[in-house]
Amino acid sequence: MRICFVCLGNICRSPTAEGVMRLTLERAGLAGRVTVDSAGTGGWHVGELPDPRTRAAARARGIELAHRARQFQRVDFERFDLILTMDAANQRAVLGLAPDAAARARVRMLRSYDPDAPDGAEVPDPYYGGDDGFERVLDICEAACAGLVAVLHPRLAGAGSGS
Ligand code: 4NP
Repeated sequence: MRICFVCLGNICRSPTAEGVMRLTLERAGLAGRVTVDSAGTGGWHVGELPDPRTRAAARARGIELAHRARQFQRVDFERFDLILTMDAANQRAVLGLAPDAAARARVRMLRSYDPDAPDGAEVPDPYYGGDDGFERVLDICEAACAGLVAVLHPRLAGAGSGS
């Protein structure tokens, strides 16, 4: 199973989701079963580490973020089984690149996996706000990734290979 998290810049929300998902999978004993990556719909920060505020907030929860930003590409529809977007704008941008209905079916909003989140809930962009925004992104990602792993667990546990 291969999962790609997608936001706008790939320096705040989606690298956070990637790191939180990796830790959540490890704790569930499923680390080897899932490949996790992230990307941005925009290309401004390609090659950069996550924002220092994102890295500091994640580090305080035991998560080291070493991802280098990259732009989401059409070929990613072939590389990933599940493409999880942070907000409605990311969702539209990714769907706009999808080659066919099968590709579109692989795209979901991350928070749709949080049973306590309302329909259409987004991960708010923390880039222009204060430090509390980065904590909120982590809280949201933890809740959504817990829900995601709960959904994937029956499919992955004992499934044999990582595919
Ligand atoms: P992200 O946050 O999409 O969560 O990585 C942003 C980072 C940078 C920009 C926008 C959002 N930017 O406009 O540079």
